[in-house]
Amino acid sequence: MPTILIIEDEARMRRLLELDLAEAGFETRAAPDAEAALDLLRKERVDLVLTDLKLPGMTGLEFLQAAKQIRAALPVVVMTAYGTIETAVEAMKAGAADYVLKPFSLAEIRMVVEKELDTGRLREENCALREALGQRYDYPNVAARSAKMQEVLALVERVAPTTSTILLGGESGVGKDLIARLIHQRSSRAAGPFIKINSTAIPENLLESELFGYEKGAFTGAAATKPGKFELADKGTLFLDEIGDVPPPTQVKLLRVLQEREFERLGGTRTIKVDVRLIAATNRDLRAALEQGTFREDLYYRLNVVPIDIPPLREHKEDIPDLVNLFLARHSQQSSKALTGIAPDALGKLTDFHWPGNVRELENIIERACALAPGPVLEAADIHLDSVRPKAHDAEAPLLPEGKTLDQWEDDIIREAYRRANGNKSQAARLLGLSRNALRYRLEKIGIPDDPV
Ligand SMILES: Nc1ncnc2c1ncn2[C@@H]1O[C@H](COP(=O)(O)OP(=O)(O)OP(=O)(O)O)[C@@H](O)[C@H]1O
Ligand SMILES: [Mg+2]
Repeated sequence: MPTILIIEDEARMRRLLELDLAEAGFETRAAPDAEAALDLLRKERVDLVLTDLKLPGMTGLEFLQAAKQIRAALPVVVMTAYGTIETAVEAMKAGAADYVLKPFSLAEIRMVVEKELDTGRLREENCALREALGQRYDYPNVAARSAKMQEVLALVERVAPTTSTILLGGESGVGKDLIARLIHQRSSRAAGPFIKINSTAIPENLLESELFGYEKGAFTGAAATKPGKFELADKGTLFLDEIGDVPPPTQVKLLRVLQEREFERLGGTRTIKVDVRLIAATNRDLRAALEQGTFREDLYYRLNVVPIDIPPLREHKEDIPDLVNLFLARHSQQSSKALTGIAPDALGKLTDFHWPGNVRELENIIERACALAPGPVLEAADIHLDSVRPKAHDAEAPLLPEGKTLDQWEDDIIREAYRRANGNKSQAARLLGLSRNALRYRLEKIGIPDDPV
C-alpha cells in the first residue's frame, strides 16, 4: 500500500485529505509544517508527498529542495491557491511532479496522486530492469545515448505494446514526431496505419471534417462521402499534433471518441466504431490553457494517461555527436558530397550552443553546412549558428539597424521568425508572441500569403 505524506498547515484541510486518501486505500502520514515533514521523510519510506506551497517557517520551494536532497526520485505534488500559478510553475521547474490548484475536488487529488504513483512506479521498474540487464535502448536513426533520452526510450518501450493514450510534451523541434512514430513501430499495431493530423495546419472549420469525415451533402461542397482520420487510422495509431490548438467544440467530440471509441461522420447518423491508439503532442503548456479555460480539463486527463516529456537539446548535449553523424550521413548523401566527419573545434562550437530550436535547428545547421562545406570534413568555419543576440545597452548606439525604418525592421523580424519556424505559422507566431491571426495579417502585408486550403 503506497504511503502518502500530506503537508498542510490548516488542520481541517489536512484532516480531510488524510481521511479521503485513506478511504482511497492509501497509507497516510501528515505534518503541519516543513520541519516535521522533513523529519518524517528522513525516518520513513514515503511514496509520494502532497504539500501546500505556503507553509509556515519555510517556503514550499525550499521544502521541495530539501526533500529532493533526501530522496531525489520522490514525487512531490504541490497544492497552491488559484491566482498563484507562477509559484506552481516555479515548483514544477524545481522538480515538483505536478500541481493542483485550490480549491480542488477530492476526486482531482486522487486522480493526480494515482497518476504520479503510476509514473513513478513505471520509472523505477524500468530503471531497475535496465540496470539488471545492463540494457540500453538503441534504434537506428535515433540518437539517444544520454540518460535523459534513455529514460524517454524506456518509457516508449514500456508503453508501446499497450493501447494507452500518450501525451508527448516538449519544445518545438525536440523530436515529438520521431518518438510518436517510434511508439507506433514498437507496438503490435506496427503493421497498421500511422496517421498524423496537425490541428494548427488545418483551418478550424475543417478540422472536424478531417477528423471524423463527412457524408455526401453534409455541407456545401461535400460532393461525396469522405472518411476522416479516425477511420483511416483504424487498427493503427492516430497522431494528433499540436493538441493545444484544437478549438473547444472539437475538444468535446474528441472526448467522446476517447471515452467511447465511436463517433458519427459530419451529417451522418450511423455510429462508427474504431480501434485507434491515440498519441497527442503539444509544445506548449497545456496546463496554462487549462487555467485559462481554453482547454477542457476532462479531455486533458483523458489524454494525459501516460505523459512522455522529451527534454530540450540543451539538456542532453551528450547526444550532439551522434546527432551530427546521423545528419551528416543523411545530408551529405542528399548533396552527393562525401563528408566523412567533423573537426573537433566544429563539434565544440555545436556543443557550446544553447539550441533554442532544439534538434530540428541542429539538423538545419548541419544541412546548410553540408551544402556549403568544401569538404571532406566539416570545419568550424562551415558552421553558421544564428547569431542574432541582443547587444548590451548603449546610449550611443543607434536604435534601429542602419538605414532601416521601424516598419522595415519589423518585417525583417517577421521574416526571420517565419524562416526559423520552417514556415510553420503557429510556431512563428509563438516565437513572436503574436496570435496566429495577428501574424497572418503581418505575413500577408509582406507578401507571404495564407496557406491555400
Ligand atoms: N534523438 C533524435 N535522434 C535523431 N534524430 C532526431 C532526434 N530528435 C529529433 N530528431 C530529428 O530532428 C528533426 C525534428 O524532430 P521532430 O520533427 O520529431 O520534432 P517535433 O518535436 O515534432 O517538432 P515540432 O514541435 O516543431 O513539431 C527530425 O528530422 C527528427 O528526425
Ligand atoms: Mg512535430
